[in-house]
Amino acid sequence: MKYRLIVRLFCLAAWAALPSAHAGGAEPPAAVLHERLTRLAASPAELPAALRRGQAAASVCRHCHGPGGNSALPEVPNLASQNADYLLEQMNKFVLGTRKSSDFMTGMIRALTPEERVDIALFLSRQPVAYAPAARGSDAGRALFGQLCAKCHGDAAAGSHRIPRLAGQQMKYLEDSLKRYRSGMGERLDPMMAAYTRNLEDTDILALAAHLAALRP
Ligand code: HEC
Ligand code: HEC
Repeated sequence: MKYRLIVRLFCLAAWAALPSAHAGGAEPPAAVLHERLTRLAASPAELPAALRRGQAAASVCRHCHGPGGNSALPEVPNLASQNADYLLEQMNKFVLGTRKSSDFMTGMIRALTPEERVDIALFLSRQPVAYAPAARGSDAGRALFGQLCAKCHGDAAAGSHRIPRLAGQQMKYLEDSLKRYRSGMGERLDPMMAAYTRNLEDTDILALAAHLAALRP
């Protein structure tokens, strides 16, 4: 339970240092934030400043997600090179409570302004992946992924827009996430992922996670 200890210590040490919470301003519609992201990403004049703001706002995240979003903790997802729209959508979900985390994530994200979420998503999506080849893949996992998952996540598991990149993700995190969708208990509710995990056995989930963690991101 080393990770739990890190989380507790982090809460104690970092909470006081957080920037003042987004002061209760109305939450803009998600579509407006995604439009802002698309506009900044396409603007050579505005993008460099947005990336600098994102880097500054994300500095507190590296305690868990690692430098540049390359996590060294099995329970904590890599965010480096994740699709920007997916990162933004998940941050919005933490704020709205449609994604629940027993840890610290919801409070962390609520302390950001909506514009900071956009900047962070742009910054992290452009960080290089520190690829560490996973110890094993899984032939059974590869076959299942091709059958059930590749039509949305892509053959190379790179995803696009709001569909997450899975290649090279932390294996334990993949396993936890698939079980959360399958359980339908509300930590992660997504109708598509619920449908595609409903009939998976634990052994299928382990095989899928082993296959995906071993793919080069
Ligand atoms: C105390 C540790 C900790 C800190 C600090 C932290 N996170 Fe997280 N983060 C987690 C954990 C654990 C998860 C997985 C939670 C879950 O799925 O319920 C997560 C999940 C996420 C996800 C979803 C990723 C995915 O693949 O779906 C995003 C996005 C994210 N964090 C962004 C951030 C940002 C941005 C910051 C800094 C402002 C931050 N996190 C700080 C522990 C942390
Ligand atoms: C119909 C399209 C579709 C199919 C098929 C699909 N997914 Fe997904 N997947 C999604 C979407 C959309 C999300 C984001 C859902 C959310 O917001 O939580 C997602 C999220 C995920 C996540 C969370 C990633 C993270 O970083 O937290 C994992 C893991 C995942 N899918 C694995 C799979 C696997 C394994 C299969 C096959 C058994 C599969 N998916 C099939 C669309 C799909």
